[in-house]
Amino acid sequence: MNKILTALLLAAIAIPAAHADDTPAEVRTKAFKKMLLQSFEPMGMAVRERAPYNQAQFAQQAEALKTLAAEPFKHFPAGSITGKSRAKPEIWSQPAKFQADKDAFLKSVDNLAIVAKSGDLAAIKKSYGQVAQSCKTCHDAFRGPEK
Ligand code: HEC
Repeated sequence: MNKILTALLLAAIAIPAAHADDTPAEVRTKAFKKMLLQSFEPMGMAVRERAPYNQAQFAQQAEALKTLAAEPFKHFPAGSITGKSRAKPEIWSQPAKFQADKDAFLKSVDNLAIVAKSGDLAAIKKSYGQVAQSCKTCHDAFRGPEK
């Protein structure tokens, strides 16, 4: 049941192909979705015990998250709120806070990659929870409702 539900949820946000004429908002949204689907959610399945935990595979996904997590933040040029973008103007009016949230997030991602190598599942769950919390902290402040 859970597996089917998750498959449906993931199918609903299939990885969209990137196009040369994408706006920065489209480029970063695709990068966020890629990060979610290729590493964050597969790890989440193991953390929530809905998929078997495999130490080597999990460590690889945590390592991949380091690269994928940095990518969206390369595409936030000033005022790039176009189309269906959920970016809030506060990203550019409170740049220090946005930067701090991003840094805290990337640090939690680095930490997860280190902890993942240990294979200590209790520590991994805690570290994964800290990453999830840093997604939420930033979304609460800087991501608006769906359009
Ligand atoms: C420092 C801020 C920040 C962090 C950290 C962050 N996000 Fe986001 N995220 C945003 C913003 C802003 C948008 C909206 C971008 C847009 O629409 O232009 C967004 C959009 C997204 C989207 C695109 C679809 C949607 O709902 O808008 C996904 C998926 C997503 N984030 C997942 C995550 C996940 C998962 C994490 C943590 C692993 C995370 N984000 C961490 C700021 C952040």
